[in-house]
Amino acid sequence: MAEKERILVIGAAGQVGTELVLKLREVFGETNVIASDIKTPGYEIFEGGPYEILDVLDVKRVNHIVSKHGVKQVYLMAAFLSSTAEQNPGFAWNLNMNGLLNILNMARKEKIAKVFWPSSIAVFGPNSPKEKCLQFVVTEPNTVYGISKLAGERWCEYFFEKSKVDVRSVRYPGLIGYNSQPGGGTTDYAVHIFYQAIKKGSYECYLKADTALPMMYMDDAIRATIEIMEAPSEKVKIRSSYNVSGMSFSPSELAIQIKKHVAQFEISYKPDHRQQYAETWPVSIDDSFAKNNWGWQAEFDLKKMTVDMMQNLKMI
Ligand code: SER
Repeated sequence: MAEKERILVIGAAGQVGTELVLKLREVFGETNVIASDIKTPGYEIFEGGPYEILDVLDVKRVNHIVSKHGVKQVYLMAAFLSSTAEQNPGFAWNLNMNGLLNILNMARKEKIAKVFWPSSIAVFGPNSPKEKCLQFVVTEPNTVYGISKLAGERWCEYFFEKSKVDVRSVRYPGLIGYNSQPGGGTTDYAVHIFYQAIKKGSYECYLKADTALPMMYMDDAIRATIEIMEAPSEKVKIRSSYNVSGMSFSPSELAIQIKKHVAQFEISYKPDHRQQYAETWPVSIDDSFAKNNWGWQAEFDLKKMTVDMMQNLKMI
């Protein structure tokens, strides 16, 4: 695969950014992957290759970092997620939207050649289908996060159509991994539950027992991200964002799997404001376009994911 273009990851200290940097460095070589964030990341990211403090809203500095390192590809992972965005809508809109526009504009001016930007299942809303939600359906999100992601998708397609910007995107479901903690999302429980199961043998869930949502194991999410970026341009036919599906489960279904590893595990439920966001999202996703266009295929189901999480977390 690997053309050795210099890659900049913005938001490298976050849940996905952390894992993405580790994988990109493994595939493309540590000197070719520049990690960046507004805060200092964990030791592995900081020590494992070039690192820059960077705020995506600071256009001048983004330009400086891109030319300093000869960056050709940008993975823009910095964003406010659903729960934090509701608490600070103005800033969330600014970060999620102007961050993206800054990078798309740089690509339009040919300062960079390729952009990855993640969208989310949060583009769907109460009027979208619940089961096996198709690629092209009603998208009427009613969260700030969802609105910013939907607008972002429209901008991506617009820049591709009008200015030939090579931007690629997938709609991430809730993401679960053991190397990094999520922050500010509605689906975060699916990571926290593992830590609490091991530490305390119990977990109080902020979603109702039967609230099923689309989810994906981090290995699959990182692979989807790199695969769409490495796919030949003509195979990436959708330039807004692709549905990608991993698995779908509710908190009670996840608890059953965890009990197989922590026999005394107890889950209790105390729904909070995040329940209402979750209820507007689909339960499961149809990803036929990603499968047919660039060969996407998830590898982890609920059982396999739980086994892998448990094995890795018990070693940490
Ligand atoms: N994981 C996100 C959230 O919960 C959804 O994309 O906000």
